[in-house]
Amino acid sequence: MALHKNTSLIRFLLSEKRIIRLNPFRFHQIQPRFCKFVNMKEVVVSGIRPTGKLHLGNYFGALKNFLRLQQQFDSYFFIADYHSLTTHPTPGDLSASVKRVLAEYIALGLDPEQCTIYFQSDLPETAELYLFLNMNAYLGELERVTSFKEKARTQPNNINAGLLTYPVLMAADILLHRGIKVPVGKDQEQHLEMARTFANRFNRLYNNEYFPEPQAFSFEQNLVKVPGLTGTGKMSKSAGEADTIYLDEEASVLNKKIMRAVSDSGPSEPGAPKSVPVQNLFDLMGLVSATDTIQFFEDSHKAGNIRYGDFKKQLAADMEIFIAPLRDKIQTTLGDEKRLNEIAKFGAEKARASAQKTIREVREIIGFSNR
Ligand code: ADP
Ligand code: TRP
Repeated sequence: MALHKNTSLIRFLLSEKRIIRLNPFRFHQIQPRFCKFVNMKEVVVSGIRPTGKLHLGNYFGALKNFLRLQQQFDSYFFIADYHSLTTHPTPGDLSASVKRVLAEYIALGLDPEQCTIYFQSDLPETAELYLFLNMNAYLGELERVTSFKEKARTQPNNINAGLLTYPVLMAADILLHRGIKVPVGKDQEQHLEMARTFANRFNRLYNNEYFPEPQAFSFEQNLVKVPGLTGTGKMSKSAGEADTIYLDEEASVLNKKIMRAVSDSGPSEPGAPKSVPVQNLFDLMGLVSATDTIQFFEDSHKAGNIRYGDFKKQLAADMEIFIAPLRDKIQTTLGDEKRLNEIAKFGAEKARASAQKTIREVREIIGFSNR
């Protein structure tokens, strides 16, 4: 019975000429959508830039999903240190930030035995794939990317080529492992669309369905956007202290930040809609508070008698309950430099094996011989 099943599976795979183009007996060339037929796990890839301490947005947009995905898939989580060079960090700042994000990954529960954790710059293959993809990425489309336009507006004195080709480097990160699920927050949606464009274009150019189409992924129904505290946009490492709640925030600072968060002068009448800054605070409460607590404040807003002082006090208390254990774990992990170095070395070796295989195959597809 088992033999019969296997024979028909192989016949099925061989009949799918598009799946196995170079060599029918090389299973690594099987399209990820057929992984389930051959008991292979889909590949998950994501990274966070080492541009500051991790915050609630990074946790709920990215890391929380990493933790579940590592148990089910072949997962690669890296520290995007090449990406952080667009802002020209000093060597001292860069190495401290990189180490910090690694410590935070481990403290929050990424397990080097379950997933592959590495520094992007430990895989120079990333740069090679970036170069290949750049040959097929066009100025017009890169200039239209929202994050590029935003950066060009906010840092007019540093509109470097790395910023322009940021989505190409990100596509290289993902395609290097032939990633298919990419856990990211809402702000990365457009970058994922570009990654699909570059993957498809490569496939079309070389008439080979080598790269899968990566998709942004969240266990939530929609991709997450955690708002900042100042009522403007998403929480971000670069949005400033007052806007951001770090995952190791001290209790007193946390309390102060929430009590000072932007709200409004209160509902004008019962049933009045929430203003954007107040909705943001409700969104934050939705992340950490119990359902009946949230309902209580929803009801009092609807009734027009909400007291923002009490609302914020409750939010600060619930946030502290969420943050306290993370803060302790981050501090402890940061101190264990020897373990962090071992984890980085182990992860780099695992990631390199996957990257080198892809680069070898990509070079072959392009027409370079692998000597
Ligand atoms: P930042 O924007 O703070 O510099 P990164 O750009 O390095 O952080 O983002 C790392 C990951 O965290 C990405 O998956 C990104 O989508 C997610 N992320 C960052 N900020 C938020 C946010 N406010 N809400 C949801 N996800 C976020
Ligand atoms: N661009 C992402 C961010 O700013 C970080 C990142 C770099 C990334 N390469 C990636 C995320 C590959 C997912 C996959 O948040």
